[in-house]
This record gives sequence, C-alpha cells and structure tokens, in this order.
Amino acid sequence: MPAQTAPAKTQPPVAVLSRQDPKGQAARLLEHGSVLLLPDLDFDIAGFEDALYAQVSNEGVKNISYNPATGELKGAAAEGFAREQLVEIVARYSRWAEDLVRELMPAYGAKLQVGRTSWRPRSADHNLSKRKDDRRLHVDAFPSTPLQGRRILRVFRNVNPAGESRYWRVGEPFADYAGRFLRNARPMAPGAGALLQALGVTKGRRTAYDQLMLQLHDQAKDDDGYQAAAPHWDVSFPPGATWMVFTDAVVHAALGGRYAFEQTFYLPVAAMEDEAASPLRTLERLTGKALV
Ligand code: SIN
Ligand code: FE
Repeated sequence: MPAQTAPAKTQPPVAVLSRQDPKGQAARLLEHGSVLLLPDLDFDIAGFEDALYAQVSNEGVKNISYNPATGELKGAAAEGFAREQLVEIVARYSRWAEDLVRELMPAYGAKLQVGRTSWRPRSADHNLSKRKDDRRLHVDAFPSTPLQGRRILRVFRNVNPAGESRYWRVGEPFADYAGRFLRNARPMAPGAGALLQALGVTKGRRTAYDQLMLQLHDQAKDDDGYQAAAPHWDVSFPPGATWMVFTDAVVHAALGGRYAFEQTFYLPVAAMEDEAASPLRTLERLTGKALV
C-alpha cells in the first residue's frame, strides 16, 4: 500500500447491542474502539419534562453538571422546585447508567469509578474557542483532572422531545490519530506536574500521560486542515437511543443536537479485558517511554 493512502477502516465505528446479547461482548467492542449503540432501552422521564426542557443552562456554560457523590448541581439557572426536579432526574439517570454499565461489563466490577453526570440542553455553541469546540474532532482529556492512565467511559442518552437526533462524527483509530500528532506534542516541563498540583490547577498530579493526551486533544482541535480532511464517519443518534464509548480513545465530535444525558465513568487500565488497547499502553508503545 502506498504510504500516502489513508488507513483502511477495519471495523465500523458503531456496534448495535441489545440487552439480550451475550454478556462479555460489550467490553471487547468498547475497548477496541466501537461506539456501542443500545437502541431499545427505556429511561422514564415522565413528570420531569418541564424541569428538563424549560431549563436553559447559565450563560457561557456548555453543560449542567451533577456530582453523584455530593449531590451538587452546577451550571443550572433553575431555582426552587424546578431545580429539585432537575437534580432528581439527573441523579436517576446517573444510577440508571451505572446499572447499565455494570450489567453489560460485569468484569469491571469494583474497579469502575463513577464520575460526573451531565445534562446537555444546548446544541453546539458558535462562540466557543477552537479548544472548547466539541464540534471539532478530538479525544477527551481533562486539564484539571489528571487521569494518570485511567480510561474515560461515557454513557449518553438522547431525550430530545422534538424528534431531533444528536449528530456525531467518529474519526480514525486512536493509534493513527496519536501517530499524527505525537511528533509535535510538547512534553511537560520538569517539575510542572508538582507545581500545577500545588497551585490547585489540577486535582492530583498531571503525569506525562495526561500531558500527551491534552496535547493530542488541543493539536487536533487547533488543526483546520485535519478537521477538514480527517477520515471520519457521520453517525446520528435518534431520541430514545443510548450509546456508550471510551471517549479518551475514540476520536469524536458532536456536530449538533440538544437534550442529552451523559454519565462519565473512570476505569484503571488494569481492569480492562485488554489493557494493550488503552491509550496509555498505545502511547507507551509509540513513544517507547513509561508515561505514568
Ligand atoms: C464530546 O464529548 O465531545 C461531546 C459529546 C456530546 O455532547 O454529544
Ligand atoms: Fe469529547
């Protein structure tokens, strides 16, 4: 094959699964870069429509975020009863998503950590900077939350009341994406991890792995040429669809659509069925260095 040829896609980016399918498939598919689509699940929001759809997030806030560990809700303009209702339904989604993940990937067990929940009432905002613009292809990496190699697994559900889909673009395999941007990735300055932590910029120590992941995120979003020409599939998720994906490895962009729930989970690489498929081990292979 000539060197210039775009890498061949060996598998479709979306795998459709139902609750009846044998357990154990889900982890393998997810860990190897599929978006897992569950078209036929129920999540009842009856009685909560007003709180969800009348709700507009605070100016400048992309998503409303909920912390299941503390019950704290951030970014919501609602007050009083509407706010209580919003907390209740988002908390209910969080438990629902956790039950689903534990059912589909029982082997992750106690190693699976529950992160934030979000309610996404808005469509892509045109006033965001490139780096914050999730309509541009990227892998997820969090500037203030170093993951030190842990995976980011997210469960989304579209509950748009007007029949509108949520539109995603899914990009090339992680190793290809990383291979493109690694050579220009800036390494962390010596001592920067400890300094950022001491200053309270990061919750925990930013590792060489976190630095590389942030660079992969930023460089892809900054690169207009890549955004215009990158290999991709466009995927739409209709109302009622649930989908889950390791967003630290699956190159993705959210092009449009409003009113979705999302629950984030973290998973140590040692809990994976195939640790070699993680971004951590992939980047260690590509750089020849230990990164955490
Ligand atoms: C993202 O993670 O880039 C956004 C996904 C979404 O809100 O659909
Ligand atoms: Fe993202």
